[in-house]
Amino acid sequence: MQSERADLDLVTKVPYLRVLTYPKVSNELAKVRVAELRELRVEEVVFEGHTRIGSLGVLGLGTVGVVVKVRVGEAYFALKIRRADANRQDLEDEARVTSLVNRVGVGPEVYGHTRDAILMKLLESQEIGDWLKGVRGAGSREKARELVHALLNQCRKLDIMGVDHGQLSNLRKHAVVAEGRPWILDFESAGTSRKPRNVTTAAQYLFVGGALAPAMRRALGVRDTATLKALLGEYKRDQSDYRYSKVLEHLRLA
Ligand SMILES: Nc1ncnc2c1ncn2[C@@H]1O[C@H](COP(=O)(O)OP(=O)(O)O)[C@@H](O)[C@H]1O
Ligand SMILES: [Mg+2]
Repeated sequence: MQSERADLDLVTKVPYLRVLTYPKVSNELAKVRVAELRELRVEEVVFEGHTRIGSLGVLGLGTVGVVVKVRVGEAYFALKIRRADANRQDLEDEARVTSLVNRVGVGPEVYGHTRDAILMKLLESQEIGDWLKGVRGAGSREKARELVHALLNQCRKLDIMGVDHGQLSNLRKHAVVAEGRPWILDFESAGTSRKPRNVTTAAQYLFVGGALAPAMRRALGVRDTATLKALLGEYKRDQSDYRYSKVLEHLRLA
């Protein structure tokens, strides 16, 4: 399928403007958005992706933002645009927190932002469940282990920084695989003033209560969740390196 594209003149016209001003259609807002795209040096919006707005493909649609593929010069990026009906006034906090966690190698790199848009690394991502189905044969346990280890380590870094992602209980949507490694997405609900629970929430989803847990336990050969739950409870209390290493050891990741 050929992808549809629109430059900054065309993108303010029907049907393209609907993506910029979703869920309403507003010429006025389209103008504001285009000024923001220009500020970020976006030259073209590429309507590609599995999600549709009308007949146009987008990379993703959440409750806060619409994510589209864009071209800046010769390179392609993902641009998150605030929805007109989002329950927040701007994307400033999200841009700030994402840039902060970028410093420890977490999240898609932010290259620039405006009040209502964040320009970031484009991920050709796969859901962890789909990725897991694709790892087969010799070495598959090792690959699954590496992925989980890397994901938990990212969560551990967030815990240490004092950043709570806030939506890892819905991990399926907020942790994906791209370029052979895990990525934590969407820091719109992240907070720095509450106790972080990234490791415990992610591990709970992956091995105990989440939709992926049975497949993940099988992939890593984890049988006993009672011990894991106890170890996570202990980790939660002091969040020490020692307690974290006990969790990894139990999952045979250490
Ligand atoms: N950097 C990116 N590259 C590719 N797709 C992305 C990127 N960031 C987000 N997406 C897609 O867009 C969807 C919605 O983004 P998200 O940040 O979760 O928005 P919301 O805050 O509205 O929930 C994600 O689930 C994902 O599929
Ligand atoms: Mg989201």
